[in-house]
Amino acid sequence: MANNLLKGKKGIIFGALNDMSIAWKVAERVVEEGATITLTNTPLAVRMGATTDLAEKLNAKLIPADATKVEDIENLFAQSMEVLGGKVDFVLHSIGMSPNVRKKRSYDDLDYSMLNTTIDVSAISFHKMLQVAKKMDAINEWGSVLTLTYMAAQRTMFGYNDMADAKAMLESITRSFGYIYGREKNVRVNSISQSPTMTTAGSGVKGIDKLLDFAERMSPLGNADADDCANYCVVMFSDLTRKVTMQNLYHDGGFSSMGMSLRAMMQYEKGFDEFKDEEGRIVYG
Ligand SMILES: NC(=O)c1ccc[n+]([C@@H]2O[C@H](COP(=O)([O-])OP(=O)(O)OC[C@H]3O[C@@H](n4cnc5c(N)ncnc54)[C@H](O)[C@@H]3O)[C@@H](O)[C@H]2O)c1
Repeated sequence: MANNLLKGKKGIIFGALNDMSIAWKVAERVVEEGATITLTNTPLAVRMGATTDLAEKLNAKLIPADATKVEDIENLFAQSMEVLGGKVDFVLHSIGMSPNVRKKRSYDDLDYSMLNTTIDVSAISFHKMLQVAKKMDAINEWGSVLTLTYMAAQRTMFGYNDMADAKAMLESITRSFGYIYGREKNVRVNSISQSPTMTTAGSGVKGIDKLLDFAERMSPLGNADADDCANYCVVMFSDLTRKVTMQNLYHDGGFSSMGMSLRAMMQYEKGFDEFKDEEGRIVYG
């Protein structure tokens, strides 16, 4: 249901890889709400094709950019302002990748060059994007910038690995840059901490099926899916949230405020045998 919440607004959406991507749903929803956008992803992802289909469907220019490369981001903002006819009103940073997770390196056996890549792609790219935007004065006053994060930044979650460190940094950049960008340009910067969601990045997380199921049962409202997230992004890009900035906004059906539900408590002591050795000691998990 469209309410014209973003009528006349212009934006850039990073990270739509395929129709499961959260950014894909956000792109569709913001256009439905009256915005015009450009889309961006890595040159490799662009060559793979699916994002091109989305660009055609939404009548949006697709501009390749590796978000770890400052010159690519500069080109992206310059081209976007040219195509859209001026400064933008909103940006979605929906990017995450860990080579350690991909290569199944455990957190106590990290490869440090891979860790650098995880942090560069998943956290520092947000700083680069904000710094370029501010230097180019590419975002209108009262513009809104969002990034997507996960609760493992605050609480240890099995299998999230070095992405937890990247997300903690990402949320810190949100606050630190949000202060400066708000003070100088009235631009707001927030992170949305999303439920586990079955996407290409999400499916890399060890045990994602069970995590999804656990979070679904633990959250009073159930998990928020990618469509729910797109709706939340629309509100955060709209003028209805002009004074919200530097926040980490949980969007998880209540999961982050739960300690223990009755159902979880009842289930908890069942089926631990596979994690015990012959002497009954817990060996893993
Ligand atoms: N899926 C989940 O469970 C979940 C939960 C909370 C937060 N998030 C976050 O949501 C965001 C989007 O992920 P998703 O789940 O939609 O998965 P996704 O795999 O669809 O999206 C990740 C995107 O990052 C892009 N990317 C990777 N390296 C890049 C680079 N160097 N430059 C530019 N783009 C690059 C990929 O091409 C892809 O489009 C990520 O930040 C992710 O951590 C996901």
